Parts: sequence; C-alpha cells; structure tokens
Amino acid sequence: MPPAARQSITLLGSTGSIGVQALEVVRRLGERFRIVGLSARRRLEELAAQVREFHPSLVAVPDESARTALRALLTFPQPEIVIGESGLVELACHPEADITLVATVGSVGLRPTMAAAGRGHRVALANKEALVMAGRLMMAAARRAGTEILPIDSEHSALLQCLCGHGEKDVRRLILTASGGPFRDATPEAMAAATPADALAHPTWDMGAKITIDSATLMNTGLEVIETRIIWFWGGSADRIE
Ligand SMILES: NC(=O)c1ccc[n+]([C@@H]2O[C@H](COP(=O)([O-])OP(=O)(O)OC[C@H]3O[C@@H](n4cnc5c(N)ncnc54)[C@H](OP(=O)(O)O)[C@@H]3O)[C@@H](O)[C@H]2O)c1
Repeated sequence: MPPAARQSITLLGSTGSIGVQALEVVRRLGERFRIVGLSARRRLEELAAQVREFHPSLVAVPDESARTALRALLTFPQPEIVIGESGLVELACHPEADITLVATVGSVGLRPTMAAAGRGHRVALANKEALVMAGRLMMAAARRAGTEILPIDSEHSALLQCLCGHGEKDVRRLILTASGGPFRDATPEAMAAATPADALAHPTWDMGAKITIDSATLMNTGLEVIETRIIWFWGGSADRIE
C-alpha cells in the first residue's frame, strides 16, 4: 500500500496544554503531519520556539504589540503574523491545512471553528466551550460543507472510536467517567475553605487552569454531558447519558 499523504495541520492555541501535546505527537509522527499555522496569546517566547522548530507559514497573536514582540524574537525568514479574532479565523481557514486543530480555551474558539468547518476543513476540537455554545450550528455547518468535527476531548475521542460505524439507533446509553479532581475525598467543610491553589492542584492531570478548575467543581463533567449530547444525540435528550 502506498504511504498516506502527509496531512497539514493549523493549530490554534499551540502554547497550551493540548497544543503542546499535539505538537509532541507531530514531532513523533513527523513523516505523517506538518504544521502550517500556530497561535498563542501570552506565551510568545514559547510560540517563537515553536515557529523556529515547525516553520509554519502563518501565525496568529492577539494584537499589534504581541506581533511586534514576536517579530523581535524571530530571525528571517519570518512567517506572516496576523492579529486579533479575524487573525484566528484566518489561521483556522489556512488554505494549505487539511486539519484545523482548535486547542484554545473559552469562547474565543467559536468563530474560528465555525469558519473552518464552513470552509470544509476537518476540525479536531479540544475547545469544548465552543461546542457547548453553538454545537448544533457547528455540526450543521460541517455537514453542509461535507466535513466533520472530531472531538479530541479524551472521553469523547474514546466514544468516537468505540462508536465508529454506528449511529444513534445503536446506542442504549453512553457513560462518561470523571476522576473526581482534587476534592474527591474532601468534606464539605474542607471544600468551603478551599483556595484557588487547592482547586488547581489536580492529583492526576496537568491541564490548563480553566479545565482544572472546572474539574474540581465538576462543571467540566456538565460541559462533557452537553458535548456528548450534541455529538451523538443531535441535541436531543440527555437521558441516555450517565
Ligand atoms: N488540557 C487538557 O488535558 C484538556 C483535556 C480535555 C479538553 N481540554 C479542552 O481543551 C481546551 C484547551 O485546554 P488547555 O488545558 O490546553 O488550555 P490552556 O493550557 O489554558 O491553553 C489555551 C491555549 O489557548 C490560548 N488562548 C487562551 N486564551 C486565548 C485568547 N483569548 N485568544 C487566543 N488564544 C488564547 C493560550 O495561549 P497562551 O498560553 O499563549 O496565553 C493557549 O495556547 C479547553 O477548552 C479545555 O476544556 C483540555
């Protein structure tokens, strides 16, 4: 069999926990993937190091001062550097990309994800908040463009692989697990006295701050139920999700 064609990835949020792990995968599977776009918000030195290693043609940062700072960290030739939300949308729709990997956090991923799906890019989505905000619209945009949105949130990625080739009618119930986070065995009194630092000390995973806090409060599991409902039950009832 001939080797699979090399896939190009544009990666939004490359300096975060998911972004760095995605680059580690690309580093190990370099013959199968190449990076054509990267973005960050505050960690510009890390972004500059990634640019030097992966040579993307397009990079997005939040504003003009971040662009100036990034330019100063890079030698020539430099990638094109775009700014703001429109820059992230441009990055998500990178014309050379086969896959748009959205590893930003919060609502900022919404417009770029919609734009990439609408353009027909295969979207690998970690940014669950965007799916929770407008999942039905996103899934519809992807269907219209003949592409797909693949969750890379771990539970959903596992479900996707288990359910490959199956539809809603084949599913009786889907069960999501949760590790419990730092307060799993805490008393209500201890939880009432907990500090942000206690909530950020996840016993198992080293993740970004927002998802770590959401794990400590179990809000993350709530988001995951919504995410599951959008992906597999087309926005219908959540009764079959435990
Ligand atoms: N971490 C995990 O193991 C994990 C597991 C499942 C799902 N997720 C989901 O994956 C997403 C990313 O999580 P994470 O833990 O990787 O987060 P993170 O470590 O905080 O990284 C977020 C990334 O997005 C960038 N970013 C943040 N705000 C931005 C903004 N307003 N504009 C542009 N870029 C911005 C950050 O840039 P700077 O760092 O340069 O500021 C960073 O590159 C979240 O939705 C999370 O729920 C994460």
